[in-house]
Amino acid sequence: MANPLGSQFIYATCQVGAEAIIKKEVASVGWRLAFSRPGFLTFKLSEVQPISSFLEMPSIFIRSWGISLGKVGPGDPEQLACDVWKLLGEHPLDRLHVWPRDRAAPGHKGFEPRMTDESTAAERLLCATAPEHYSRLLAATNASSLAKRNEHVLDCILVDPGQWWIGAHQVNRRVQRWPGGIWSCNRPTATASRAYLKMCEALDWTCWPMKPGQRCVELGCSPGGSSQALLELGLRVVGVDPAEVDPRVMGHKDFQHLRKRGHEVKRREFNEFQWLVADMNVPPEVTINTVGNIITYRSTRIWGIILNLKLQTWELADQLPHYIEQIRSWGFPRIRARQLSKNRQEVCVAAFRPPRRLKRPTRRHPSAKHRGA
Ligand SMILES: C[S@@+](CC[C@H](N)C(=O)[O-])C[C@H]1O[C@@H](n2cnc3c(N)ncnc32)[C@H](O)[C@@H]1O
Repeated sequence: MANPLGSQFIYATCQVGAEAIIKKEVASVGWRLAFSRPGFLTFKLSEVQPISSFLEMPSIFIRSWGISLGKVGPGDPEQLACDVWKLLGEHPLDRLHVWPRDRAAPGHKGFEPRMTDESTAAERLLCATAPEHYSRLLAATNASSLAKRNEHVLDCILVDPGQWWIGAHQVNRRVQRWPGGIWSCNRPTATASRAYLKMCEALDWTCWPMKPGQRCVELGCSPGGSSQALLELGLRVVGVDPAEVDPRVMGHKDFQHLRKRGHEVKRREFNEFQWLVADMNVPPEVTINTVGNIITYRSTRIWGIILNLKLQTWELADQLPHYIEQIRSWGFPRIRARQLSKNRQEVCVAAFRPPRRLKRPTRRHPSAKHRGA
């Protein structure tokens, strides 16, 4: 069924600090900035667009996006919930996502993008006050519910106290299944570092065919959170880092530590790996050069790479298209980039090439034997 929702406005959420880049990038496609707050932006389009038209975002710094239906408030939560349903009318929707705008940059005074008590309470209130015809939505909704492909999702973003913004999106991308594009995990794992979550999010986002027993090398592995996530998948991991690794990771039977810098490892030592990840606290150019040297070596057979490129300054974001072209030139046709919800001032670039088939020995024609070939 065609979706009747159409809008002249679009909303986008992002990490606090990334707004200026997004404004610059979307200006190039003709969107005009309307309302904005740190971590939340709305843009005016030149004409009304259907919900399904927003497949691609012009910026990798946009974490979640959809059409904007407007705001409700000021008011108390009960009033706001009633106003949401009035605003929405009778539109068909499959699911509800409620989340708060980021209040600070990730890591600032321990801040992490995540659901809050306030957003969970708002979600409950919306469910409790929903009109009868949204019962299907209510049945499907709970705080951790992931949307499914093609579903229509009602978005409620807690932008300020007493003010919620309402939007809608259709799920066309994996990250659109997560409320607010915020990846979350319920498993209580004692992790060697925060990078564990970053790697888990990257693995969920890429959905690569990683199999137990395959080999992965991590450049910049210390103290070891991301290697820990890779080991949990059953991979055999070699971590390259001059710094010490957490004993929980060091003690793992499938982990080996090379106490070196990435460029100090001989290139032929990377021959046996299928996967490479890099999380070095160096300028993006250094990561690209180090990884490029490995990948372009004649006997390297790596299928997929995940690079966390640290943006020491936000201006470095201008260079990202250039880095992506460099990666493409190494023979990776499929490249995606995103500022993950667990990323700090950095972006994640994932590049994949289908594994090369091993060349089978050509079968000799039986007559060749007689010819002495
Ligand atoms: C953000 S930390 C990595 C966190 C790690 N991935 C984890 O899961 O805990 C950055 C690391 O990069 C390492 N590093 C910096 N330059 C490096 C290089 N040229 N080669 C290898 N490691 C490097 C640092 O020693 C540091 O441990």
